[in-house]
Amino acid sequence: MTSFQAPSGTRDVLAPESARIELLVASFAAACRRAGYGLIISPMFEDAGVFRRGVGDESEVVRKEMYEFEDKGGRHLALRPEGTAPVVRAYLQHRPPVPWKAWYVTPAFRYERPQAGRYRQHHQLGVEALGTDDPDLDVEVIALLFDFLRDVGLTRFTLRLNSMGDGVCRPAWVDALTAYLEAHAAELCPEHAETWARNPIRVLDCKRPQCAAHRPEMPTMGRFLCDDCRAHHERVTAGLDALDLAYELDPFLVRGLDYYTRTTFEFGSDALDAAQNAIGGGGRYDGLAGNLGGPETPGIGFASGIERLLLAADAEGVLVVEPATEVFVVDLVGGGAARDLTVELRRAGIAADRAFDQRSMKAQLRQANASGARVALIVGEREAADGVVAIRPLRDGGDQELIKRTDLVGRIRELLH
Ligand code: HAM
Repeated sequence: MTSFQAPSGTRDVLAPESARIELLVASFAAACRRAGYGLIISPMFEDAGVFRRGVGDESEVVRKEMYEFEDKGGRHLALRPEGTAPVVRAYLQHRPPVPWKAWYVTPAFRYERPQAGRYRQHHQLGVEALGTDDPDLDVEVIALLFDFLRDVGLTRFTLRLNSMGDGVCRPAWVDALTAYLEAHAAELCPEHAETWARNPIRVLDCKRPQCAAHRPEMPTMGRFLCDDCRAHHERVTAGLDALDLAYELDPFLVRGLDYYTRTTFEFGSDALDAAQNAIGGGGRYDGLAGNLGGPETPGIGFASGIERLLLAADAEGVLVVEPATEVFVVDLVGGGAARDLTVELRRAGIAADRAFDQRSMKAQLRQANASGARVALIVGEREAADGVVAIRPLRDGGDQELIKRTDLVGRIRELLH
């Protein structure tokens, strides 16, 4: 019988790699708390309509990649392919006071072709802020992700920024773009030669040479922005300038989800392959709440892919996590010394581990070294009889010393600091 494996496009993350994810999440949580965002936990699955209407029936994520199913009660559900539409659904259901600022860490499911940096289950860190269209909020949200990436230790990333306009000015742009694409449909890449009419905006960020060749001529949103959208965009760029956050204006940054209005942005890592270099992205979605049947409520947010962050961190040699274990107890007498010592140390706030099964001194010391502990505590016959413990430095050099059992915690604290 063949054994089971994790499904294609998913992966198990074990220690020590998972410790890096713990660190990312903790550091993101702290940054969000500092900025007034509260954690939201909402279901992994929703009525499929949340995504069909929220993200857009014509978006690739919904049309081709969504995991949809009927439950035993005949409900039409979908695993979340992204986190924004569910947060807006939760907002409309609970109506917290605005501005409402929420952060999340969540798996997201997309039936994509698996490859390095592209998974069928990936994990996102994100924020959403609802209830105001103040451009300072756009700046706040972008700065939050910018500073988080820097705190992680990443330096080789760039921020691209664009405005998608709004319901007032976007239709004229889409009309102009549609007319252009209609005239040049036969010259587009095979996919967009077929699909341009369904979602003309997507052609803008197509990287295939046939479509890319049209970039200099294709109408972009910038020329069509109405006064309000232009003023909004200018306030955002002025804010980023004031905070010294470097960005590039990119009229071809349209992103893959259909809910965006006005500000869109994406962070790309120069340390990753171009095809999967997006380490985070987001934007405004002032029409999303309305599309879900609620009152018009502006909003903005971003999400950053944990797996991509890890790849970028590897490529830059940052986010190296030290082993947690500080002390390893080697017990040669049995009789409970290791049991009592490790618990005593842990109660004193010291990370302690031990061997089991009465293994040989050699085997226990091998385990002590592998644990990454800085010191081993050795309890042998003589030590047990005299009420002392031997402390052996494992990593920092120095001599073994004997210490009275009663002075142990204090001495360990000294050694570890
Ligand atoms: P997104 O750009 O589709 O945006 O995904 C956010 C991030 O998730 C990407 O920048 C990338 O780092 C990561 N990501 C996406 N797909 C995959 C995948 N298949 N495998 C690995 N990583 C992936 C959103 O999801 C929006 N909800 C962001 C947002 C929040 N916009 C406004 N608020």
